[in-house]
Amino acid sequence: MTFPNISWACLLLLLCFASMGDAVYTKYKDPKQPTNTRIKDLISRMTLAEKIGQMTQIERLEASADVMKKHFIGSVLSGGGSVPAPQATPSIWVNMVNEFQKGSLSTRLGIPMIYGIDAVHGNNNVYNATLFPHNVGLGATRDPDLIRRIGEATALEVRATGIPYTFAPCIAVCRDPRWGRCYESYSEDHRVVQQMTDIILGLQGEIPMNHTKGVPYIAGKDKVAACAKHYVGDGGTHSGINENNTIVDEHGLLGIHMPPYYDSIIKGVATVMVSYSSLNGVKMHANHDLVTGYLKSKLHFRGFVISDWQGIDRITSPPGSNYTYSVQAGINAGIDMVMVPFNYIDYINDVTYLVKKGIINMSRIDDAVRRILRVKFTMGLFENPLADLSFADQLGKKEHRELAREAVRKSLVLLKNGNSPNQQFLPLPKKARSILVAGSHASNLGYQCGGWSVQWMGGSGNITAGTTILDAIKSTVADSTHVVHTENPDENFMKSNDFSFAIVVVGEPPYAETLGDNAELTILEPGTDTIRTVCSAAKCAVVIISGRPVVIEPYLPLMEALVAAWLPGTEGQGVADVLFGDYGFTGKLPRTWFKSVDQLPMNVGDPHYDPLFPFGFGLAINSSQPGFSASGADRLRDGNERIVYAVLSSVLSVILMFWA
Ligand code: BGC
Ligand code: BGC
Repeated sequence: MTFPNISWACLLLLLCFASMGDAVYTKYKDPKQPTNTRIKDLISRMTLAEKIGQMTQIERLEASADVMKKHFIGSVLSGGGSVPAPQATPSIWVNMVNEFQKGSLSTRLGIPMIYGIDAVHGNNNVYNATLFPHNVGLGATRDPDLIRRIGEATALEVRATGIPYTFAPCIAVCRDPRWGRCYESYSEDHRVVQQMTDIILGLQGEIPMNHTKGVPYIAGKDKVAACAKHYVGDGGTHSGINENNTIVDEHGLLGIHMPPYYDSIIKGVATVMVSYSSLNGVKMHANHDLVTGYLKSKLHFRGFVISDWQGIDRITSPPGSNYTYSVQAGINAGIDMVMVPFNYIDYINDVTYLVKKGIINMSRIDDAVRRILRVKFTMGLFENPLADLSFADQLGKKEHRELAREAVRKSLVLLKNGNSPNQQFLPLPKKARSILVAGSHASNLGYQCGGWSVQWMGGSGNITAGTTILDAIKSTVADSTHVVHTENPDENFMKSNDFSFAIVVVGEPPYAETLGDNAELTILEPGTDTIRTVCSAAKCAVVIISGRPVVIEPYLPLMEALVAAWLPGTEGQGVADVLFGDYGFTGKLPRTWFKSVDQLPMNVGDPHYDPLFPFGFGLAINSSQPGFSASGADRLRDGNERIVYAVLSSVLSVILMFWA
């Protein structure tokens, strides 16, 4: 009779122990412990394989819950245009990210992975996201508060897809517009770029006053880890050739290309991406002096350093020809996480081999892992590893589109307006008999968004939700105004019509990275023909959609007004807001506008400086002139009313003359 009772008691005791085992206190899992204590505790438990896994970032195409689990992968990314499904909804994104995360969480130590994406002008790979102007346009605004708010909105739209990390901002100081990434740079002047690093405060959150310099800061679930890229000198390559060599002395390096990194680090940036380019012949991915010596030791950067996409492969020429050496050189230079992104088995095997051989020291591995874990702990990833749909409604929401529209308005730079200050052409009247809207870029959302928009290279036409400039014009003018749209009208068409005025929207086709390198910098044909034909027959305002200054001087005399609109993104309404005078022009050139490409490179302060429009140039509407306030202009512009106005004002002057 007593026997069964004893066995029951044993069983109970056993069950007790089992449940106690579950509740065993694990220091690194305790959010109340200081971050450094958690890091130390976790690292002390990790095997080499688990550490190397943390140092590995793979493309989503390679990822699955199994892969994450089996190889302890620390990070996954979406490359340009890499999406779970065309036009994927937030819930498709969140499910994908969570599926990979569950694989990571099911490992022995349950270290969450961090998912990263290029949200370089809004969450740009994602269908329906708000696309803000590209950086060159934001540089024209000179408005750090605006850019901080854009950072906040972008963080929310990235979180809407379950993603906690963006490879932005690009803080390149582009010194040559022939570079295909010049639009990713805020300015040729490092001071403007420095100012714009305030986007980090929006993305990651406002850094507390007493925060230790160099230590990453990410405020919480509605913020994302940022990435200052591409360290360093990416914007200074010879002839503006992408991934090429930047030849610069110490003064130039520390005075032009480095300053935005000081600001980013002070603002708590979580990660820094290394540049494909070389510095005075040394590949940045193998540059120990600058990555470890300067960034980590001198500047006290405590976040993690990430390679660029196949960046270590490109240490050798041809790329990947000695991958083991690439791994050795890259990691020993100080790279903490490698954006592999495909061949992760080779990468993991090579790191393992190099550590076992003593070619990469264990202390180097530990430094890398410590930094990666620091970012993950800081941002609360251990506490909130799985995303939910609570941010889903942030994607492309009205307030963000309004903000993007504001950014577009502020980014516009007025380069020409009539032939003298008292003969201004802009703003345009909303009331006119008939207006012509022409040009390859007037009704093309893809073109106005540029590269890194839905696709890596961008696209043409209705690539996502947004407002084209044509639609914006149509909804701005009076109902009675007849808007005619023809992309490239010929002379006969122009002769057989009598337009009150014309708006010609032309520019560059979308491009990204090396494919955007261009030594000619001409606009997409038949853009120049369109300008010639239209502007010879009607009074016209030309709007340029481009990632950089383009050849325009020969056509300048033909046009009444010229506006640089950069790559405005999805909210084309901002262009019409200013063209028609609801808002003024405030943008200032973030770059020097050259006369001809043989002047390049030419930056403000250069001895041979002879620009068409200098750095900082940007006209305002002279509102003191009668009839040039928004409403006044409306009255003024329409053909018949203009005559009435002329007659009335002459009558008035005659009366005044007699009075005197
Ligand atoms: C990827 C991009 C990446 C590029 C680098 C593309 O295939 O989609 O994300 O930047 O390759 O070469
Ligand atoms: C680009 C980076 C980008 C990465 C991931 C690379 O080709 O240089 O700026 O973050 O791809 O898409």
